[in-house]
Amino acid sequence: MVVDIVNELGGLVAQAEDISPSGGSQREISLGAMSNETKFSMKVEERKIIGRHGNSLSFGAGLSKFLAYNGLKEVWVNSDGLELRDAILGSTLAQYRFGKYRTNSQPDEVSIHYLSGSEGVLKKARAIAEAVNFARDLGNEPAGSLSPAMFVKAVKQKFKGLPVEIGVLDEKDLEEQGFGGIIGVGKGSVNPPRLLTARYTGSGERPIALVGKGVVFDSGGINLKPSDGGIERMYSDKCGAADVISVTLGAALLALRADLIAIAPLVENMPSGGALKPGDIIKTYSGKTVEVLNTDAEGRLILADALAYAQQEFNPVALIDVATLTGTKVQALGSRIGAVMGNNQELVNSIVGAGDRTCEPYWQLPLPAFYQDLLKSERADIRNVVGSGFREAGAIIAGLFLNEFVKETPWAHLDIAGSALANSDSGWTARGATGFSVRSLLELAETGLEV
Ligand code: BES
Ligand code: MN
Ligand code: ZN
Repeated sequence: MVVDIVNELGGLVAQAEDISPSGGSQREISLGAMSNETKFSMKVEERKIIGRHGNSLSFGAGLSKFLAYNGLKEVWVNSDGLELRDAILGSTLAQYRFGKYRTNSQPDEVSIHYLSGSEGVLKKARAIAEAVNFARDLGNEPAGSLSPAMFVKAVKQKFKGLPVEIGVLDEKDLEEQGFGGIIGVGKGSVNPPRLLTARYTGSGERPIALVGKGVVFDSGGINLKPSDGGIERMYSDKCGAADVISVTLGAALLALRADLIAIAPLVENMPSGGALKPGDIIKTYSGKTVEVLNTDAEGRLILADALAYAQQEFNPVALIDVATLTGTKVQALGSRIGAVMGNNQELVNSIVGAGDRTCEPYWQLPLPAFYQDLLKSERADIRNVVGSGFREAGAIIAGLFLNEFVKETPWAHLDIAGSALANSDSGWTARGATGFSVRSLLELAETGLEV
């Protein structure tokens, strides 16, 4: 029996022949190598769509699904012609399930042995998968069980024994040190905000600073989101924070020769008697004042603080923020492509390159100076949105807002709205939080920047 293994696009990834004697509980699948047998073929055109590693990631993902579907527990694969690391990664990532709150959850795990695999490659794949899956675990956790303080606790627990220095500012520190954006957004919630940092020192050079939006729940605040507006998915508004923290985890596990500082402002955006009100004016960490016309444009407020803090405190070579920032980004690019914007084309190019190589594609949006005036305020230095009803170019305007808080440091902004949370399983992407950006940023940290 010859069986096709297809990828999420329905393309033929491989053909597997079940050569085992029937009736056994453990059957063997033999996959012929590309070169000398015809039973295993890859769809080469696919490289064009999803990048250099696309085939092997898809192969691994397809293989694990094929096995699970067929009730096979263990196979041996002739891995000639595969990017082994990615094939292993594809299988591991595809098998991820957030089963913590399902009392009947039974993971159907499969073991795949690659005949030519080395221990080193296996370890690398496992480290990357662990980082991505930690980001997914944090992202998937309901807001009711992951307040800012609990987020910090979970991260401290995970990093025990690893060479990563964790720092935490609590609400008192934030208040005293002038983090008006984080305090403002967080003050409507009974769960006070935190600023979490994770520093990995692997090279002794100036660090790359990674800033991640950590809104553990985005209700919209007083500009409350409607019931049919996807509010129930807004526990995932912390995925940027989960991702950047997990990049440092991956870097430590891989012992990368890189210096990274992840900075995660963690808040819950809630309406209450104490919440920020539309029309309020806040003073951000940089000293710039912001007229908050819409409390649902909260991500940019906490990022403004964190970006300024990153530059002042860590003198980074480059600054990259990762955020589920705008619905407009989802409309423009959908969920499978991240948006990238920035003030330095080399940095943007490095990110696009790393994204292509890891099948986390990014598409650049411009930051034209002629839109900057739209954020002018009469009552403060800048306003957080153009005005109610203004729907155009939302992802770009959010990027331009952040740009106001960046000085000369090469900076890029990744809008991963939609990409961070998947509705269904697809390839190596498991339903729920995806960890989108973790692999591309690890790749970037490993290969270095061209800035
Ligand atoms: N967290 C949302 C953005 C979002 C939307 C993420 C959909 C994932 C899926 C963000 O805080 C937000 O509410 N943005 C507003 C901005 C608007 C008020 C200018 C939006 O996009 O509608
Ligand atoms: Mn919002
Ligand atoms: Zn948000």
